[in-house]
Amino acid sequence: MALLSVEDLVVRFRTHEGTIHAVNGVTFELEEGERLGLVGESGCGKSVTNLAIIRLLPKPAGRIEGGRVLFDGQDLTVLPEAEVRDIRGSDIAMIFQDPMTSLNPVLTIREQMVETIQAHRKVTKAEAEKRAVELLAMVGIPKAADRLKDYPHQFSGGMRQRVMIAIALALEPKLLIADEPTTALDVTIQAQVLDLLRNLTTEQGTALVLITHDLGVVAGMTQRINVMYAGFIVETATTADLFAHPSHPYTIGLLHSVPRLDAVEGEELIPIEGRPPDMRRAPTGCPFAPRCAWRLEACWADNPGLRALSGEETVVTTGERATHRSACHNPPTAEEAAAGRPLRAGFTAAPPPSGAIDELGGTTANIDDFGGLVAAIEAEESPIEPFPSAAGLPLPPEPERRNDGI
Ligand SMILES: Nc1ncnc2c1ncn2[C@@H]1O[C@H](COP(=O)(O)OP(=O)(O)OP(=O)(O)O)[C@@H](O)[C@H]1O
Ligand code: SF4
Ligand SMILES: [Mg+2]
Repeated sequence: MALLSVEDLVVRFRTHEGTIHAVNGVTFELEEGERLGLVGESGCGKSVTNLAIIRLLPKPAGRIEGGRVLFDGQDLTVLPEAEVRDIRGSDIAMIFQDPMTSLNPVLTIREQMVETIQAHRKVTKAEAEKRAVELLAMVGIPKAADRLKDYPHQFSGGMRQRVMIAIALALEPKLLIADEPTTALDVTIQAQVLDLLRNLTTEQGTALVLITHDLGVVAGMTQRINVMYAGFIVETATTADLFAHPSHPYTIGLLHSVPRLDAVEGEELIPIEGRPPDMRRAPTGCPFAPRCAWRLEACWADNPGLRALSGEETVVTTGERATHRSACHNPPTAEEAAAGRPLRAGFTAAPPPSGAIDELGGTTANIDDFGGLVAAIEAEESPIEPFPSAAGLPLPPEPERRNDGI
């Protein structure tokens, strides 16, 4: 039995502006000690998925409207609040982007750590304090015993995040959810904090869900990756498979828009043209269709589910043999993935039905027409040249070019 099993999770926010379809049927599993990355652009539902798992959705707007979250065999969506509170902070811990939002500014680190440890373990105050010092030392806080008396604001950003990790690991949780844990830190500190997280979770056998918009971060930290778009998981694979054979047009776009370790020197980073969809609209069709150069007519009406790339029926959901699955009607070939655009002769992205949003912005999605487009622009003596975006679409020329999100 998996440690965590999220089954068809649906989360919506009922707001004055309408219903936000934040998470639209997310299913995944996690084994004990496994490290999973959750990646995708801002607003795709990464945080909400995890807030729903630990039942910390902002109330009253945020609600789980479907699905189950089995943790150690118990469905967290229906457990009484008191029992979920017990599980939170003992079996499941969470680290957020900004440690100041999680640390209490008016309590010393001693008070916060001792309180946390004592809330879940039958230990004396002195024993809890000893454990707090050990943990602070473990996360690399110099003179840990002396720092117990300090308040959060007396620590630098990187040190505060270390304190948060120490508190999160104080209880040796079975699952640690880290939501953009290093985004607020400068680059050198980011690497140290990530190393620390990886080493400590490995040593303690803690399962990790690492949420980030940065594919570079998950590459070195996780064993598996779920790529999210518009509240759906659109591709899932082992980390090695995902980087070696990205298969969903959105993942391909992400990979072309971030620096890669194996990038050829001078290789240009290309943003994904267009914006994620408005989550107030109930999803119909593939949510990536307006930005996708591979789209077929069917994509506008039918949102494909995750399917094994191999076509096999039997699916392995966890571990190093996890099945590589993608939710796409027209998966790019390996050559197309490398090029970041469709290469099939004469292929044209299906035009939108009337009323649908098309992020092609009036230009053609047919990459074969590029020559014509360039010729037309040159004929107007324009100094600018269009080029395909990371999703294979033509980008508008500078200065309108913009990078949406990633
Ligand atoms: N309190 C809230 N009220 C209404 N809508 C919300 C609320 N919190 C999140 N949402 C919406 O839910 C959707 C998913 O948001 P979520 O915070 O999970 O995105 P994310 O993938 O974590 O993005 P980021 O990378 O910016 O953190 C978004 O459309 C967001 O606007
Ligand atoms: S080809 Fe179709 S299903 Fe696949 S990502 Fe593009 S629009 Fe979505
Ligand atoms: Mg978030």
